[in-house]
Amino acid sequence: MVSWEKSINIKSPFELDIMREAGRINAEALYAAVDLVKPGVTTAELNEIFESVQKKYDVYSPFKNYPGPYPYPASICTSVNEELVHGIPGKRVLKEGDIISMDAGTVYQGFVGDMAVTVAVGEIDPQTKRLLEVTKQALDIAVSKMVPGNTVGDIGYAVETFVESQGFYITRTYTGHGVGRKMHEGPQVPNYGRPGKGMRLREGMTIALEPMVLGGTSRTMVMDDEWTVASADGSMTAHFEHTVAVTANGPEILTF
Ligand code: MF3
Ligand code: CO
Repeated sequence: MVSWEKSINIKSPFELDIMREAGRINAEALYAAVDLVKPGVTTAELNEIFESVQKKYDVYSPFKNYPGPYPYPASICTSVNEELVHGIPGKRVLKEGDIISMDAGTVYQGFVGDMAVTVAVGEIDPQTKRLLEVTKQALDIAVSKMVPGNTVGDIGYAVETFVESQGFYITRTYTGHGVGRKMHEGPQVPNYGRPGKGMRLREGMTIALEPMVLGGTSRTMVMDDEWTVASADGSMTAHFEHTVAVTANGPEILTF
């Protein structure tokens, strides 16, 4: 998400407990949508199943009505193929060979879990499969850097060099972010950077790490609906995201 610098909020052990539950519920609701992905399903149906799980827990999505060109109209983002992020669920029917990124958030007891996955619709071609694997690995690498003393630049550098070594591109326009009582807190966490530069990570920081990877260019464009961001060249894109805490014992993924 593009944003100005926002405040950094260190979470207490008590607050981390709440964020664990926010992340757990968010993951359960998102996986319900993942389980539904197959040819013939509409993106609106994925949003509906996600909302039905949220309803069961009496929680809601911080995406709904999020300020933008107009308030964001759904609980999740569904971005298909060349769509990188912020795709709006609707009548679009998934077909064999598509990939779909689902980005979802949950507010539980005042704290946010934020998570995204990209999955295949039926059989996909080998290069697209590799794109998904590389993006998922980029997230794993980012998570591994979430230790006290490392910097935001260490995370970005690791993601950027890995993704580019695999022949893919990262966006420089959209970034990861601190997350807590608000979906977007400081620091901003780009998927590029320089080792040792940027803010130093401290115990109790919670960050949404989200590599956004493109097949043929780092350039993006915003589509006519004013929300959906797509690759400028129409190449396939992928997005994985976890909410991760910096702890004394190392990185802890909260969105499981
Ligand atoms: N995970 C996305 C982000 O970190 C979700 C924002 S979509 C919006 O920016 F609709 F809420 F804006
Ligand atoms: Co996010």
